[in-house]
Amino acid sequence: MITNAILKQWKQAKRIAVLTGAGISAESGIPTFRGDGGLWRNYRAEDLATPQAFQRDPVLVWEWYEMRREVCQKAEPNPGHFAVVELESLYPDFRLFTQNVDGLHKRAGSQSIVELHGNIFTGRCTKCGCIHPLDEVPLPQLPPPCPECGSMARPHIVWFGESYDERILGEAVAYLRSVDLIFVIGTSGQVTVPVYLAQEAIRAGAYSVEINPAESTLSESVDLSLRGKSGEILPGIVARLRDLN
Ligand code: OAD
Ligand code: ZN
Repeated sequence: MITNAILKQWKQAKRIAVLTGAGISAESGIPTFRGDGGLWRNYRAEDLATPQAFQRDPVLVWEWYEMRREVCQKAEPNPGHFAVVELESLYPDFRLFTQNVDGLHKRAGSQSIVELHGNIFTGRCTKCGCIHPLDEVPLPQLPPPCPECGSMARPHIVWFGESYDERILGEAVAYLRSVDLIFVIGTSGQVTVPVYLAQEAIRAGAYSVEINPAESTLSESVDLSLRGKSGEILPGIVARLRDLN
């Protein structure tokens, strides 16, 4: 139950953050990673989402990302994504941190997005490092060549065993330490860095709300756990916030 007193407190927040995971895109038909039907139930991450896997068999890795890219391209943002867009319009100081690579937040209309794990519609050159869009689905050639130097490109995604972009991470930590309110939506909390980011906001005193049909590793730390689907819960919260005087 979200009382009007709680809503008032949320409404007064000056700076807010939203951290999303695969769960927010589940209602768009994009499989999550863990749990029933999760990608890591059916595929071994070591074979597909590590630098070693790419070195061993770049075409196999690209084929797997092509398959996922097609799913992402056909999917549409759901009411959860759109509610995040509306939430952003209620707060001048807002930032969305997503672990998702599917691009659905952007397509829904979110502006201030930090893609912590990269983007499946973006490639990065293994030689010159240039980052470029992968507009064609499917790609005409696997592995695709870098548009700048012709060397092999890789998906612009943070794989297991790789470090995050330091600048992005530094800015994320600084921002999260200064928020009054954080929504953690649709993540199991199994990946260290995003959990650390949420914990930094909580440690610094932000009011924290989780939206997830199941328990996560963050459930014990948050102030409020809302059990349910983000596409069903979030639009109602945003409408109440908007209408609050
Ligand atoms: P997970 O698959 O680990 O967790 C998905 C979470 O979404 C679970 O806690 C579900 O209970 C929840 N969920 C399912 N349906 C939902 C719904 N309709 N509304 C809200 N929540 C729902 O996905 P992530 O936590 O995002 O990394 O996984 C983190 C990272 O691990 C991913 O970014 C990916 C993966 O390895 C990379 O690919 C780099
Ligand atoms: Zn290049």
